[in-house]
Amino acid sequence: MGTHDIDRIIRERVESRRFRIKDVDQLKTVDDVFNQYTIDALRELMNRRVVDEVYGPVAQGKEAKVIWAKAPDGTDIALKIFYTSTAQFIRGRYKYLLGDPRFTGVKITNTRKLIEYWCRKEFSNLGDAYNAGVRVPKPITFNRNILVMEFISYRGVSGVPAPLIKDAPPEDPESAYLTIIKYIEKAFILGRIIHADLSEFNIVNTGDELVIIDWGSAVKTNHPNAVEFLLRDIENINRYFNKELHVKTLDGKALLNALLRRYEYRGDVKSDEDGWLLINDKRIIDDLTNV
Ligand SMILES: Nc1ncnc2c1ncn2[C@@H]1O[C@H](COP(=O)(O)OP(=O)(O)O)[C@@H](O)[C@H]1O
Ligand SMILES: [Mg+2]
Repeated sequence: MGTHDIDRIIRERVESRRFRIKDVDQLKTVDDVFNQYTIDALRELMNRRVVDEVYGPVAQGKEAKVIWAKAPDGTDIALKIFYTSTAQFIRGRYKYLLGDPRFTGVKITNTRKLIEYWCRKEFSNLGDAYNAGVRVPKPITFNRNILVMEFISYRGVSGVPAPLIKDAPPEDPESAYLTIIKYIEKAFILGRIIHADLSEFNIVNTGDELVIIDWGSAVKTNHPNAVEFLLRDIENINRYFNKELHVKTLDGKALLNALLRRYEYRGDVKSDEDGWLLINDKRIIDDLTNV
C-alpha cells in the first residue's frame, strides 16, 4: 500500500465523520462519550480559551476516545476523552495507580476521581517525556477526564491523524529503529520515565517522523516493576523491527544493562547532533557494538 492510498483512506475516514459544533450541549446527541459531566469539562476548557471548536472522533479505544478539535488560534488539537463509566477501565487501571509512588496517599473514593487521576497521570507522563526530548504529542492541559494535547497529523494535513507504524511502516526501518531506541534512552535517563506499553500500536508515523503516543501506563523509574517494564518495551520494539521489518536489532538484555549502567551515572549528560546521549563522550549504543 503506497502512501497515497493511506492518505486517501485516512482522509475519507475522517471526512465521513466530520462535524462542527459550537454549541457543546448538542455533542450529547452525536457521540456517547459526551455525557453531562464531560460536556461541563469541555465547556470549561472552551471558557478558558483552550478549545474553540470540536470536530469528530479520530480514534476509539477501550478506555478513551480521541477527538479532533481546534484551539482559538486555529491549530489542531487532540482531546483524549476517558470514558467515565467503564468497569473495564477500573479493573485494568487500578493496579497501575496503586503501584505508582506518585499516587500513594491518594484515596480514590469514586470512579470519576480515579479517571481524573489517570488523565492527570498521562498528562504528567507526557510532560516528562516531552521535556526529555522524546517526540510525543506536546501536552497542553487537562480537565476532569479530558486530556488536551498536540494533534499529530499525517503529512501536516489538518484533521488527518498520523497512522500507526503497524499500518504505515517507516520507509527506513534501520534509522527508525535507532530513533525509537534513542527515545527509550532519553525518556529513561533524562525523563526518568518508562512508557511500559511500547509497541507498533503506540507509535505513529507522520510521514517524516515517528511520534510515541499513549503514555497513560508509563511509570517513573522508582516504580517497583520499572526494570521489567523497560525490558518489555525494548523486547517489543526489537520484535516488531526484527520480525516485521527485518532490522538487525540490538541484544535486548545488553541494551537494558547499558541503560541501567548509564542511569547510575551522576555526571553531565549531553546529546550529539544525531540526538544520542553522550556520557563521558560515549554513546550507549557504542558500548553494545564495541564489545
Ligand atoms: N495526539 C494525537 N494526535 C492524533 N491522533 C492521536 C493522538 N493521540 C492518539 N491518537 C489516535 O488515537 C488512538 C488511541 O490513542 P491512544 O492514546 O493510543 O489511546 P488507547 O488507550 O485507546 O490506546 C491512537 O492509536 C491514534 O490513532
Ligand atoms: Mg494506544
